[in-house]
Formats: sequence, structure tokens, C-alpha cells
Amino acid sequence: MGTTGQTDGMGQFADLLGALDVTDPGFIADPYQVLAALRDATPIVHDERTDQWLITRYADVHEALRDRRLGRSYSHRYTHAELGRPDPDPRWSNFHEHERWSLLSLEPPDHTRLRRLVTKVFTPRAVEALRPSIEQVAAELLGECVERRRFDLIADYAQPFSMAVICAMLGVPRGDTRQLLDWSHAIVKMYELATPDDMKVAADRAAGEFIAYTRDVMRAKRRRPDTSLVSALVAVEDEGDCLSDAEITSTVMVLLEAGHEATVNSLANGMRAMLLHPDEWARVTSGAVTPRTAIEEMIRWDAPLQLFERWVLEPGVEIASTAVPIGAEVAMLFGSANRDPRRFVDPTRFDAARGDTAHVGFGGGIHFCIGAPLARLELEVSVAALVERAATVELAATPRYQPTFVLRGLEALHLAVE
Ligand code: HEM
Repeated sequence: MGTTGQTDGMGQFADLLGALDVTDPGFIADPYQVLAALRDATPIVHDERTDQWLITRYADVHEALRDRRLGRSYSHRYTHAELGRPDPDPRWSNFHEHERWSLLSLEPPDHTRLRRLVTKVFTPRAVEALRPSIEQVAAELLGECVERRRFDLIADYAQPFSMAVICAMLGVPRGDTRQLLDWSHAIVKMYELATPDDMKVAADRAAGEFIAYTRDVMRAKRRRPDTSLVSALVAVEDEGDCLSDAEITSTVMVLLEAGHEATVNSLANGMRAMLLHPDEWARVTSGAVTPRTAIEEMIRWDAPLQLFERWVLEPGVEIASTAVPIGAEVAMLFGSANRDPRRFVDPTRFDAARGDTAHVGFGGGIHFCIGAPLARLELEVSVAALVERAATVELAATPRYQPTFVLRGLEALHLAVE
């Protein structure tokens, strides 16, 4: 529905949109020039291929994140038919079940109720208390890597590190890491703009198995309560009726998924950037720039999450002075916003000392990343561990990006330590 301006938008910016081709390896390798050209040309454009309105500039993305007339979902207000959208494809019912009660799919009042419970666990103070145990995991894993001299920062360090941290918080056995990673990698393919059917089949199967696994974990915590987050959520449910089994399942799954995918990609994208700019890495290893400061630039410069969507829930919405009809889907281009020269001085420059926390890497508004304090701590501890144990690290091979756009991450980051 709502085709106002579409033909104009697509026609006028057809070439620029054509270059934004998520199937083009050249675009995946470096999307930023294409994004810059689109951002210079227009703050918003309708993309007929995905039927999404792309928002390109920082100020408009910042505003859209906080605009309560836009929602992560519309099902709390409208039926699919009312908004002219198709019913969810029954072939992917496990996937839909898995995110039905995810914080990322909810709007108030359900979102407020669930988020309040989870927030308690993720306060900066509660997260800071984890620092010693997180530092220990980092030291152990990186120690093994450095002994070998050559290692893949992603497979050998970042993945087992982030999984160990989130599994410990949730109370899930660390030994299940491989299986959890496999499920998670399969499921997140659903968030890409063009996912082939065979990948959707794999994602749905993974979601089904992951749901069954999560239910088992919950049963185990009921039998044997402990201090973990899953135990706490189960206790809340058992004490009253404010949390259902389905809600806990979705919450645990989204935390396990969100708890490592973006963190792993931030560290690897960011360390690639550092090592391509050895002078900047030298500022960190010399102590001139702290890891805490450096990680903000790592997230801003090569955002691990390039795009998030919202639905227009009310009539009369204008974005960057363009009318966007009710029922339309808008896509906020975070990677583009984070390099908008209207907000960041010399935005293409990787400046380890920039330390600007106003990037939109963690989103904003009511869906602002609940795991941001944990992600920041994990990244800080990892960079500090690299400085301490592997300051002379270099790229051992040219890193390649995975062929995905929304989740931006490398296949591997092979490093060598002198
Ligand atoms: C550097 C790493 C991370 C990045 C860049 C990141 C980024 C984001 C972004 C952009 C959003 C907002 C999405 C939107 O507005 O629609 C978000 C939400 C969320 N993130 Fe993260 N995240 C990271 C790490 C984590 C971690 C470690 C966890 C949990 C342990 C986590 C859990 C969540 C959850 C549950 C939400 C949904 C919050 C809500 O909708 O209320 N994230 N994240």
C-alpha cells in the first residue's frame, strides 16, 4: 500500500540504489562509498526491491529511533490485512515462534514489562561486577592463541569468548557453544534483505531445535534453581503470572543470539580497522588512547549491524519532510548514519581517539541495545588483552566479509603475533 512518491524516488535515484546491491561482492567488501553517494543525494528513498524506505542521514535515523509513531512490529495495533501486509509464511513458523516474544519484536506495554525484568540484569553496575571473570576468560583464550603465534581472532577467540560470557550469565552450559553458534548463525540469516529459501528452511529448522533446547534449560532450572538469568526469569513466572513460558523462551533465545553475533563482529571489524591503520593501533598499544575510548570508534567506523527496520503505525508521518504512508516499512541505515559528515567531523577517518559515543551502533529510544554495557565491557577487555599479550599483532591474510549486509562481519580474521 501507499505508493506515493515511489516512482519518483526510484527513478531519480535508480543508479544509486542499483549500486546498493547486497548480492554484489564489491558492495559487501566496501558499502561505504555507495552509502555516502546515496546519503549525499537524499535523506530518504523508497527501494522498490524490498518495499522499504531507506533513511540515510544521522539526524533522521536518530529521530526515527525515538519516534513512537514507528514500531518494531504492528501486530499490537493492526491485523496483517488491515495494513495490507501478507500473513506470515507458515513454512517459517518455528522462526516466527522464536521471535514472537523477543524484546526486539515487541512494543509497549509488553515490551515495557519484559524489558524492565531483563534490564535489572544488565545495569552497568551488575555488568561491571562480571569484569574479573570476563578478564579471566579473555586471558585464557588469548593466551592459547598467542602461544600458537597464528590464529583466527573470530573462531579461536571472539566466538568462544562471547559465548562463554553470555552462557555464564544465562546459566547455559558452555560446552554447548558449538551447537548454539550453529543455530544462531542459521537463524540470523532471516534478518538479511534477500534470503534464499534453502537458508530459510535451515533457519526454521534451527529455530525449532533451539526452542526445544531452551525449554529443556528452563525445565532444568525449575528442578535446580541457581543464580543465573534463566533461573531468575523462571522464578518470576512461577511467582506470578507476568511472564509466560513462550516469553521466557524468546527472551533467552534473543539474548543468546544478540549476545554474541554483534559483539564478535564488532571486535573483528574493529581490529581489522586498527590493523589497517597501524598508527591508530600504536596509539592504543602505547597507552595514548584507552581501549574504552577506542572501541567506540571501532563500532562507529564499521558497524556490525547496518540496518534496522520499523513500521509506520500512524497516518501523517513525515521523515525528512517526505510523507511516508501508514503500513510502510522504513529501514534505518546505521552504517550510513555513523559516517554522516553532518554529524561526524571527517567521518571516513578511523580515529581511535574520537571516543564519540553518540554513534547509532547500539540504536536509540526504547529499543536501545540492552546489552550495550556488556558489549562495551567485552570489547574493552578484549582490546586490553590484545594490547597486553599481542601488541605486535599483524594481519596474516586479507580478511573477507561474509556475504551478508544487515549483519556485517568477517569470515575470519587471521592474525600473526611476532
Ligand atoms: C557490539 C555489540 C552489540 C551491538 C552493536 C548491538 C546493537 C544493537 C542494536 C542496534 C539494537 C537496537 C535494535 C533496534 O533499534 O531495532 C540492539 C538491541 C538489543 N540488543 Fe544489542 N548489540 C550488541 C550487543 C548485545 C549484547 C551483548 C546483548 C545481550 C547480551 C544484546 C542484546 C540486545 C537486546 C535484547 C536488544 C533488544 C532490546 C529491545 O528491543 O528492547 N546486544 N542491539
